Amino acid sequence: MTDTAKHTPLVFSGMQPTNTLHLGNYLGALKNWVKLQERMPCIYCVVDMHAITVESDSKALAQATREVTAAYIAAGVDPKRSILFNQSQVAAHAELAWVFNCVARLGWLNRMTQFKDKAGKNRENASVGLFVYPNLMAADILAYRATHVPVGEDQKQHLELARDIAQKFNNDFNAPDFFPLPEPFIVGPGTRVMSLRDGTKKMSKSDESDYSRINLTDDADTIAQKVRKARTDPNPLPDTLEGLAGRPEAENLINIYAALADHTPETVIGEYAGAQFSVFKNALADLAVAKLTPLAQEMRTLLSDPAEIDRILKNGAERASAIAAPVMAEVRRLVGFVG
Ligand code: TRP
Repeated sequence: MTDTAKHTPLVFSGMQPTNTLHLGNYLGALKNWVKLQERMPCIYCVVDMHAITVESDSKALAQATREVTAAYIAAGVDPKRSILFNQSQVAAHAELAWVFNCVARLGWLNRMTQFKDKAGKNRENASVGLFVYPNLMAADILAYRATHVPVGEDQKQHLELARDIAQKFNNDFNAPDFFPLPEPFIVGPGTRVMSLRDGTKKMSKSDESDYSRINLTDDADTIAQKVRKARTDPNPLPDTLEGLAGRPEAENLINIYAALADHTPETVIGEYAGAQFSVFKNALADLAVAKLTPLAQEMRTLLSDPAEIDRILKNGAERASAIAAPVMAEVRRLVGFVG
């Protein structure tokens, strides 16, 4: 029996609130989250407490929290079926993160590559919150004793840390199997969306060129223009997947087409074997516009009623709190907190 088999299957995932969600967030995460709702109970969180580990602006944070919530729903996360809420409304996250600050070792956190990347050269000036970010992430997952965590490749190390924390807590407090060791669902390379300007770099909100990414709120003309201007090589499309080797831009566009159309890359290659990029890009532009503009429209509709979004988040937070409450009561008892 694997460890997670002793625990009720439950999915937990989260995304930081940012108002520039892009195609990579959609194909790499949201689309997958929507499908998982069919298989297991799911909790999806907008991690606003993680957002303040780096400099943030309060108005922009509130707005981005609502935008990301709208994006989750527009992409197909069903707030009735799944639990959808923002992290700061459920106190268990901060409370459990404190306990985990005392379980995780300094040496473990010192190995986190994302902290090194984000803190950069000015490490002394990074917030302490940025350093213990992975402990809060472990608390997010384990406050619900979630067993499955869909994340991108870049979060794998954080998830391994969450497993180490769960294991050490279980050992230290003599509570075998109290926390599950959560399993990552790593999103495969096929759905890893790369920059439209450089097929070797991930599509990212921090890339200075807006032409490197398709934002979920881009209008039809912008989407089409970005696809047509995407960097390519001079050769026509190959007729097999092997022919994409060493052609990262071509591979990226094929993968994007396949993910948007819900086809395999093989099927797409079969259909466009030998085609010029100009032809393929027109087809991709049409497909991207057809798939993404209704999503943007739905986001706008949702955002026109922020009070309704706030009600959805509050309802999700109440349901989340109810699941976390007995876990936290047991954590307090195990640790020896009175009351
Ligand atoms: N760190 C994740 C990211 O940047 C976001 C996140 C926070 C998360 N808490 C989580 C993801 C818990 C999965 C589970 O992508």
